[in-house]
Amino acid sequence: MINNNRGSGDEESFALNPVLKWSAIGITVAATAFWLQKKCRSCSSKPCATNRDNNSELLSSCAIHKKLPRHLINQSVNNVPTPALLIDMDILEDNMTKMNDSMKPFASSQVKIRPHYKANKCPDLVKVQSRIHGSLMSGVCCQKLSEAESIFMGQQTGELGTRDILITNEVVEKMKLERIVNAAFSNSKLKISLVVDNESVVRQLAHICKEKTMQADGQVKISLIIEYNVGQNRCGVNSIEELVHLATVITKDDSCAPYLHFAGIQCYQGWNQHIRSFGDRKQAVEKVNNMASDAKNALQESGLVSSDFIVTGGGTGSYLFEAGSNVFTEVQPGSYVFMDADYNKNLMESDRTVEDEPDSTFRQSLFVLTTVMSKAASNERAVVDAGMKAVSLDSGVPLLNDREQRKLAEYRPGGDEHGIIVPTNETDKSAIATLSVGDKLRLIPGHCDPTVNMHDWFICVRGDRVVDVWPIEGRSCGL
Ligand SMILES: Cc1ncc(COP(=O)(O)O)c(C=O)c1O
Repeated sequence: MINNNRGSGDEESFALNPVLKWSAIGITVAATAFWLQKKCRSCSSKPCATNRDNNSELLSSCAIHKKLPRHLINQSVNNVPTPALLIDMDILEDNMTKMNDSMKPFASSQVKIRPHYKANKCPDLVKVQSRIHGSLMSGVCCQKLSEAESIFMGQQTGELGTRDILITNEVVEKMKLERIVNAAFSNSKLKISLVVDNESVVRQLAHICKEKTMQADGQVKISLIIEYNVGQNRCGVNSIEELVHLATVITKDDSCAPYLHFAGIQCYQGWNQHIRSFGDRKQAVEKVNNMASDAKNALQESGLVSSDFIVTGGGTGSYLFEAGSNVFTEVQPGSYVFMDADYNKNLMESDRTVEDEPDSTFRQSLFVLTTVMSKAASNERAVVDAGMKAVSLDSGVPLLNDREQRKLAEYRPGGDEHGIIVPTNETDKSAIATLSVGDKLRLIPGHCDPTVNMHDWFICVRGDRVVDVWPIEGRSCGL
């Protein structure tokens, strides 16, 4: 038989040469196994996400990380395709330094910050927080298990921004509880804690830990923080009696105590964060501080307070008041790194906003970059490419970052992919007149967290230059 490969295709040549065929299959299997080993560092799906070698180059790729536009690094921000989410790195770092400075008065009481990851969902950003906050930072908060996993899953040792993660939201599904227990067992250096408010969930978690302990070599205790409802009327036990009861189950019940550690209470008050007046905000938080103090005293009287007991809560609008309470041991601000149009309306002690006193408080570091895609010849409107899929509208419309433009023009929602910039006052169209199709504008989102949740990556800039591209992990509402 003549071995003529022309027109025969790969399959036919295998038929003619079994040695070649089995070698090729062997190589394919080995390559696939090697590829599958490269789990995503953030979501652990295979092969995926943020695997990088020591030089930070991507090793493998998933849908997001394959597209990560690292080619933009070193380019002018004007070359960034829009809509895009920008971080001004100088302001971001300055906000973290300001946070350190603001916590100095509480140094003697050793109050820590545990920044909330729900605002940024970015392991690279946590590393910067860890560098700048140093020993002031006790760890991070996450709101969802998938956020927590995006910090610790598959990351190489030493690369974690933190090893101390508190999930500040109730996790109740068995499958998720198992994932938490598995993570704790497989990484002894990881401290993962979660908030609870329900006895049957506590018992189920203890049971999962017990089963895992029997299968595995060694034992891990999961730290639990009981959420106490201090007025948000969302999650949390509703009374001191319920709090003491649940803490007693965790610490004294034979089926729970060997596997669980009662580590503290969470008293979070979201509704107080945006009270505009400094005085009113302070007063509202003081009520919560008193509730937290009463709760801790009751636990103390029942002998349920351990030496490492924490009282945790607070956000960007309130953290100074919790930090000065002599009750809270740590505070949970998240938005301070970015800020947003809603937070920027809060008044400081001077009764002034960040607009009046930019040096005194956190400044806007997060922007949606958008392009003018159409403009009415009459200057009645300019249309930009950032609609409600690029910027959240739940806390009000975004603002134009340029102060002069902002006095004369405002954003109106134009649908999923459109925003409409219109004159604030119909008689003065001069701000729109200065805009041309193709111009790029920066928008200040109304609310940073849900805006971040819409994007795949941050474009990090210093001045006019792109200096890095950071993936946003653990997104979406699920898991
Ligand atoms: C439990 C908890 N802690 C802290 C925060 C952080 O708040 P902020 O981003 O306003 O600082 C939030 C925000 O929703 C929260 O839900």
